[in-house]
Amino acid sequence: MVEFQLMEGVHYTVHPMEYGDIPQVAQIDREAFPGEWATRSHSSYRQDLDNSSIRYIVACTKKDSSESREQIAGKPPWFRRLFNHERSPRTPEDIIGFGGFWMMMREAHIIAIGVRDGHRRLGVGEALLITTIDLAATLNANVVTLEVRASNEIAQTLYRKYGFRVMGRRVRYYSSNGEDAIIMSTDDISSMPFQASFQRLKRGHAQRQAKNLARVR
Ligand SMILES: CC(C)(COP(=O)(O)OP(=O)(O)OC[C@H]1O[C@@H](n2cnc3c(N)ncnc32)[C@H](O)[C@@H]1OP(=O)(O)O)[C@@H](O)C(=O)NCCC(=O)NCCS
Repeated sequence: MVEFQLMEGVHYTVHPMEYGDIPQVAQIDREAFPGEWATRSHSSYRQDLDNSSIRYIVACTKKDSSESREQIAGKPPWFRRLFNHERSPRTPEDIIGFGGFWMMMREAHIIAIGVRDGHRRLGVGEALLITTIDLAATLNANVVTLEVRASNEIAQTLYRKYGFRVMGRRVRYYSSNGEDAIIMSTDDISSMPFQASFQRLKRGHAQRQAKNLARVR
């Protein structure tokens, strides 16, 4: 489990997905990937969770102490809603993003990363990608790869930021609209140059979280 902090007492964690998370993850998946949703179902998640080659993670807001609840009492309503402090952990609204990848030999292939609509641009997608790369490294992967819609500039910007480069194109890969997929891959994630840049990006992410905090003060 990896914990990310936005301010003292306000956290979200990224940790392995459980069966009980399926309905909320499915909801985010449907929102984030409307074109692909038809191909996924609750039972396919269940199969994926039982498959030792596949890892799913979720980003989940965390209930804090009454002291920290008092700290956010004066925050704007969107902030209180976002961090959901009146509820206990792992209630449906707690999950704000998910990611999944499968391992094939020494390649970790990202299936999806999705952040709940309305919770974007706060660093959650980046936290999910950081955790994916770290987890892939502990599973002995040497590269992380993915396919992304040619039109999905936002996701490509995120992946480029983390050193993914375009390796090719799959023509008419997405059956929903015949769109091409761009194939992206990292360099060797265990290499010194990759790790140096990755650690710098992780530090930058932590600083960005501090900026989010400044925004709500
Ligand atoms: C792609 C996605 C996961 C990003 O999640 P997010 O939590 O909003 O992203 P973050 O706040 O962590 O942003 C991280 C980086 O992503 C890029 N990014 C995110 N949103 C962006 C936007 N609207 N415009 C341009 N770049 C953007 C930037 O590089 C950003 O870093 P920066 O803040 O230094 O500029 C989210 O937009 C999403 O769920 N989209 C729908 C599903 C999808 O396309 N998934 C990816 C394909 S698998």
